[in-house]
Amino acid sequence: MGFQEELNNRRTFGIVSHPDAGKTTLTEKLLLFGGAIQVAGAVKSNKIKRSATSDFMEIERQRGISVATSVMAFEYKGLKINILDTPGHQDFAEDTYRTLTAVDSVIVVIDVAKGVETQTEKLVKVCRMRNTPIIVFINKLDREGKDGFELLDEIEQKLGLTVTPLSWPIGMGQRFKGVFNLYDQKLVLFQPHGKQNVEESIEITDVENDERLDKEVGENLAAELRSDLEVVNEVYPDFNREEYLDGAVSPVFFGSAINNFGVLELLDCFVDVAPGPLPRLTEERRIDPKEDKFAGFVFKIHANMDPKHRDRIAFLRVCSGTFMRNTNYFHVRQSRKMKFSNPTSFMASRKTVVEEAYPGDVIGLYDSGNFKIGDSLTEGEVLHFKGIPSFSPELFRYVNNKDPLKSKQLAKGITQLMDEGVAQLFVKEISNRKIVGTVGALQFDVIQYRLKHEYGASCDFEPVNLHKACWVSADDDVAMKEFLKRRKRDIAKDKDGQWVFMAESAWALKLAQDNHPKIEFHFTSEY
Ligand code: G4P
Repeated sequence: MGFQEELNNRRTFGIVSHPDAGKTTLTEKLLLFGGAIQVAGAVKSNKIKRSATSDFMEIERQRGISVATSVMAFEYKGLKINILDTPGHQDFAEDTYRTLTAVDSVIVVIDVAKGVETQTEKLVKVCRMRNTPIIVFINKLDREGKDGFELLDEIEQKLGLTVTPLSWPIGMGQRFKGVFNLYDQKLVLFQPHGKQNVEESIEITDVENDERLDKEVGENLAAELRSDLEVVNEVYPDFNREEYLDGAVSPVFFGSAINNFGVLELLDCFVDVAPGPLPRLTEERRIDPKEDKFAGFVFKIHANMDPKHRDRIAFLRVCSGTFMRNTNYFHVRQSRKMKFSNPTSFMASRKTVVEEAYPGDVIGLYDSGNFKIGDSLTEGEVLHFKGIPSFSPELFRYVNNKDPLKSKQLAKGITQLMDEGVAQLFVKEISNRKIVGTVGALQFDVIQYRLKHEYGASCDFEPVNLHKACWVSADDDVAMKEFLKRRKRDIAKDKDGQWVFMAESAWALKLAQDNHPKIEFHFTSEY
């Protein structure tokens, strides 16, 4: 297969949802259809159970599983489909944000009873910032839930998406009979308990008059469906692929992942419409996947499970050209050449060494501490990929060294954990004290535990009263200098030496903004 064909065959996407909406179940069913796994249950649940938020073994278990499920590849209708795993747990939200930089499209799973939940809102916001094409799957129709139109309204309002349903449910819960597939114009009948591997479907082009509809779902539900579809046709725009690709319209499907129902419709539509590898922006220029020179970036770093071996796996998305094993590539930040003898692809629990990889592919590179999140590898060109920002953390603690004899280990451990993106480190200008900022409380436990087990260092955390860390910039150098001088007490530097304003409260932030109109306050590190 030539380069162009390999490129055209790739579809790389992520599934995002609030925990428990059914992301793992849907992933598993997609892999079953693709033949990548043979039995249900092969994809281990990658979530931390709510009851175990500070259970270290649970964190370790989670880390092990999430290496295995970082990328899951399967083939379907001649396409190579890569699903990138996104942790649903909110404490790992930053991991998910970064993974979303490596996908070309997204499927959002929503629980029919719960509707749009907070984590979904946050994640979709990140997708919308980048106009990532989104397909919505409303799950658990075998249970009672919200009315279809109510859900679509909620999705439009809370997620800011313009939707167009491509399937429509017939009843729900006990009365759930199936869906009408608007994309293919056919009736798909539901049989509970996931017995069917191939759903039973009946082609109906004339919904209004075809009596088979009444026979299959009963007169009442048939009448309900007819009137629903009339509204659907009137209210929602016809599906247009270009608009979907621009992130302007999101098709919606209904189904029940656990019963393997509605998943095939979703997959068939996905392979028809989802984008292949998209161009990526760098500070220097736009990178087209068709370019023959290889370029890629690291979006995730995973520490080894075995503390005796401190190597890590850096996950790299190939953005252009062909990546080849045992070939010298240019590590842009370190300005040196590196080659990789064991680049790895992951699938469910299988690992394989890959000889070559193409745009859209994600490979795991064994790393002994050379990579940071956001690093680029190229054939020599200096490129800095955009769109891998740090987000303003919400929880802060001072880090104190508990063992003065181990201060070197502590410093090294902290630096490496920050490179992995576990949390963010800010150093106060005035005192040189280190502050760790995270998006979730669990990270503090993770840091303490890993520092001890992997680096032999101990630290404790001291509360610090902070509301937000904002990156600051100004066109006017004099104004910037003045600001840094006046607010010295609240100024810190991040890992890249950028200036950060540490606001004690929302009010203090507002006041600083009002008093210093020439200063721009940013809530992500990339502005
Ligand atoms: P997540 O990855 O988004 O967190 O969700 P996951 O797939 O683990 O699903 C969460 C729960 O919802 C699971 O139940 C799963 O079996 C159930 N579920 C998924 N899809 C459907 C569906 O279509 N209908 C119904 N009724 N339930 C569904 P659990 O009890 O938490 O776990 P388990 O013991 O079943 O594994």
